Amino acid sequence: MDSTYFKRYRMDVDLSVPRHAAALPPGYRFVPWNEAVLDVHARTKFRSFRDEIDAIVFPCLGSHEGCRRLMREIRNKPGFLPNATWLIAHGAAPESLQWCGTIQGISERDGGGMIQNIGVVPGHRGLGLGSCLIERSLAGFRMHGLRRVTLEVTAENARAVRLYQRLGFRRVRTVYKVVDEATVGA
Ligand SMILES: CC(C)(COP(=O)(O)OP(=O)(O)OC[C@H]1O[C@@H](n2cnc3c(N)ncnc32)[C@H](O)[C@@H]1OP(=O)(O)O)[C@@H](O)C(=O)NCCC(=O)NCCS
Repeated sequence: MDSTYFKRYRMDVDLSVPRHAAALPPGYRFVPWNEAVLDVHARTKFRSFRDEIDAIVFPCLGSHEGCRRLMREIRNKPGFLPNATWLIAHGAAPESLQWCGTIQGISERDGGGMIQNIGVVPGHRGLGLGSCLIERSLAGFRMHGLRRVTLEVTAENARAVRLYQRLGFRRVRTVYKVVDEATVGA
């Protein structure tokens, strides 16, 4: 079977450099991790990724069930970090509540941190929510004494690459993700 190779950048940021907390726009608020919001993360992840390049690179991101499975895997990792895992909500009353963004973090055996997935749903992009999620998550990594945080991004996801560069992440490695042609064309 033919395969497609997606170029991905591994990027990292040095947390020993002081950072500024980013303020959410009016009406938005952070919601911390607890077990009851696992499926909210899964749904928000699905709505953020379903029409994006990463849903081709990682087909599980293109379905709600796949995102739920992925969230359970992240939650069950030994290094899962609740303090680096956040949701953003808009509105307080149940009828107006909207889930707008998600990020999850884990610590790795080498003493660094890793951001798993960050997603902002389409109607709420370009307002700074992605930047706020990253800053909030980095503050959580720092609380655990981690000094370096890594993530991976698909090279053609220019918006995400720009966002990470603007927040101080630097490219440290290029890796390739192999995807079966059948999946890419599906
Ligand atoms: C990548 C992603 C998380 C960015 O989220 P976002 O909330 O739009 O991010 P921000 O608003 O913080 O920054 C994005 C842009 O909005 C601009 N922006 C930031 N604050 C803004 C504001 N208050 N008003 C207008 N624009 C603003 C930024 O300058 C940035 O511009 P750029 O695209 O030219 O770099 C989002 O596009 C997404 O979920 N994409 C799909 C999933 C994905 O690919 N995730 C990344 C996987 S590695």
